[in-house]
Amino acid sequence: AERDAELKERLLQLKKERNAIILAHYYQRDEIQEVADFRGDSFLLAQKAAQTEADTIVFCGVHFMGESAKILAPNKTVIIPDERAGCPMADMVNVDGLRRLKEKHPNAKVVTYINSSAEIKAETDICCTSANAVKVIQSVDSDEIIWVPDKNLGHYVQQHTDKKMIIWEGYCNTHDMLTVKDVMEMKAKYPQSEFVVHPECRPDVVALGDFVGSTTAIIKYCKESPCQEFIVGTEDGTGYQLRKDSPDKTFRFASKYLVCPNMKVNNLKKLVNCLEQMKPQIYVPPVVADQARVSLERMLQVSS
Ligand code: 13P
Ligand code: SF4
Repeated sequence: AERDAELKERLLQLKKERNAIILAHYYQRDEIQEVADFRGDSFLLAQKAAQTEADTIVFCGVHFMGESAKILAPNKTVIIPDERAGCPMADMVNVDGLRRLKEKHPNAKVVTYINSSAEIKAETDICCTSANAVKVIQSVDSDEIIWVPDKNLGHYVQQHTDKKMIIWEGYCNTHDMLTVKDVMEMKAKYPQSEFVVHPECRPDVVALGDFVGSTTAIIKYCKESPCQEFIVGTEDGTGYQLRKDSPDKTFRFASKYLVCPNMKVNNLKKLVNCLEQMKPQIYVPPVVADQARVSLERMLQVSS
């Protein structure tokens, strides 16, 4: 604890020296969320990165999030606590495969989940997050959509649009592991609970949800719902904000496997170190960044 106090003090000092803001995704360890200037879902954090006046953005999340921040704020220095924190779903789609799909469906527009690399975003018409996916799809002036990389979110969105979606077969290892059996067992054990679920889960699991939404949407729903107990179908870091907002309510995660190992790679010590050393820094080749920026800025426009 004493070590923690020292680290926090050093962090405050460094933040001032570097004129830095700390952005943390809701899946980060408590010790990181505690010291962040902003906690949020992928959408809010991208928005904050685009708007900040700070010189340095410390992005506590996974690699694609830091990359998106750098693309949206090319003149800022973007650093991350550990460059090994990647997103396996983002790695499931490659540029060659996407180009082949575009050739096969020349009239389709490409809608890409923000969980993707800068190179994929550069091949994209418009990006989205789980908070705005349906709105983004509706905004596209084409009846045919190529959707990458998350098949589960894609399936969820398909239920809310008449457009024809050509869906890539990627998925989130963490959310895709949750099964109907896991949820049914929890529901049987805690029948008073509401089940809140992220659309990165499998379609049959999402179908059981009393509420479906992004991390921010889930957190807001649980805060406002009259219900006192929740079974939570998203990554366990969300517990930090859920309990902070509603200390008297009970939150149980639907499975003990709802932990994203990549999100947990970051910790307070690495956060302080990266600000101290100003590395690892995110670099995106300017040609790629310029193209990718168009698709991210379109998303920000449509959602605001
Ligand atoms: P959101 O916070 O945007 O719901 O994203 C979930 C996620 O899996 C991020 O990696
Ligand atoms: Fe990627 Fe899933 Fe981890 Fe989010 S929770 S970073 S989608 S692996």
